[in-house]
Amino acid sequence: MKKILFVASECVPFIKTGGLADVVGSLPKIFNKKEYDVRVIIPNYECIKSEYKSKMKDLGNFYLDDIVYVGIKTLKLDGIQYYFIDNEYYFKGEVPYYDLFQDIERFAYFSKAALSILPVIDFRPEIIHCHDWQAGLVPVYLNSIFQGNEFYCGIRTIMTVHNLRFQGKWNVAHIQGVTRLPDECFAPGRLVSLNQDMGVLREHREANLLRGGLVYSDYITTVSNTYAGEIQTPYYGEGLDDLLRGRSDRLWGIVNGIDYKVYNPETDEDLYFNYSQKNFRTMKKKNKKKLQEELGLEVSDKMFTIAIISRLTDQKGLDIVDYVMDRICASGDIQFIVLGTGDGRYEDMFRYYQGKYPNNVSANICYSDALSHKIYGSVDAMLVPSQFEPCGLTQLMALRYGTVPIVRETGGLKDTVEAYNEFEQTGTGFSFANYNGDELFDQIEYAKSTFYEQKAKWNKIVDRGMKTDWSWDYSAGTYKALYDEILG
Ligand code: GLC
Repeated sequence: MKKILFVASECVPFIKTGGLADVVGSLPKIFNKKEYDVRVIIPNYECIKSEYKSKMKDLGNFYLDDIVYVGIKTLKLDGIQYYFIDNEYYFKGEVPYYDLFQDIERFAYFSKAALSILPVIDFRPEIIHCHDWQAGLVPVYLNSIFQGNEFYCGIRTIMTVHNLRFQGKWNVAHIQGVTRLPDECFAPGRLVSLNQDMGVLREHREANLLRGGLVYSDYITTVSNTYAGEIQTPYYGEGLDDLLRGRSDRLWGIVNGIDYKVYNPETDEDLYFNYSQKNFRTMKKKNKKKLQEELGLEVSDKMFTIAIISRLTDQKGLDIVDYVMDRICASGDIQFIVLGTGDGRYEDMFRYYQGKYPNNVSANICYSDALSHKIYGSVDAMLVPSQFEPCGLTQLMALRYGTVPIVRETGGLKDTVEAYNEFEQTGTGFSFANYNGDELFDQIEYAKSTFYEQKAKWNKIVDRGMKTDWSWDYSAGTYKALYDEILG
């Protein structure tokens, strides 16, 4: 039995702010339970729903370094054993994250506690699979202060980057204070390249938790092949491209999948009407009508409906959407539906356009899983014009629901959406190369004219998209190959 431990800050169905939670919630389930024992550790946030809290079992508690409380709770769901690090002081409140200054202390505690509970729960993983900066200190602790303890010797680590923009950086004094890591971890950083002077958290006057994970982990993965290449360049590298180039022999790009049981238009209970590849032509129209009614838009199957379902942040390409919104809405034959929350300026931007074009724009500035499913099942196209996109899951959900993605060719978007070629009649969506509003607008126009003037060809695009397989089956083999390579 191969023992693997996931350490992450979010995991569906317990707590979610983004795609990280979907991946941590679905990836452990793809492995054959006879061969792999995959378990997951996350914080026991106060804001985890009570339906799960009430099912958790108490496994005791102890004091880390004799002073900081660590409680251990557990629960088994869908065959996966989950552990929750309990500390009311660190994980109180209505949301999982606060300001970075506090979060660094909270997740430093979390990473150390996650390692510390292993002898108590009697689980010695062969590989610890760490996700994003919140778990970045796990490989660092493991290879420093935990090395004195035989239990931890030989445990290997993987650091998976879901989004390189977020790294957990603060000044050295603060991070040294809250982590209590030895001085050598903060040794002044000569430029880290080609294995020289690895082993530093430090970047000039700052320390960087993700950097620590990237330096100390045995392997690094990220969530698409294209992004794995992009982050080795200065434009996408967020200041770590040099380090990542230096470790490129240990860097794998493995594209995410989605849970095809949860995202299934034939059985999805949130849809107005279920449908399959055989009857999407009639059923999606019915769904569209219902959605238009629900959102108070003009009810007409003649409208070309485009949606954005996203965190509303600058990563997501909303500045170039802003640049073309008047042009999109001026034509009168497009309905634009937004669902998501995020930066105030983007929330206000979509509210503004809704006010300006009430017949064409529906701004739903909220988080709603049910509404998101309804939108996937009803609209014609899904817009994902991201500035950068490690993987992106919305385009995968769109393809599954017969909604045509319009994307920028970056990261996972490039790897999962094949551009429509009208001459060869291939492709599953529309795409543009440069981060440029005019290119975006051209593709929206191209999609719209295909939709209106060449309906049979449009439906073929939908057909091909629905036939692609972005379930975890596609990447399961690569993850297994990685685990096997690590375990020799
Ligand atoms: C982050 C990335 C997104 C990716 C997700 C899951 O949210 O921004 O591109 O799909 O993590 O890996």
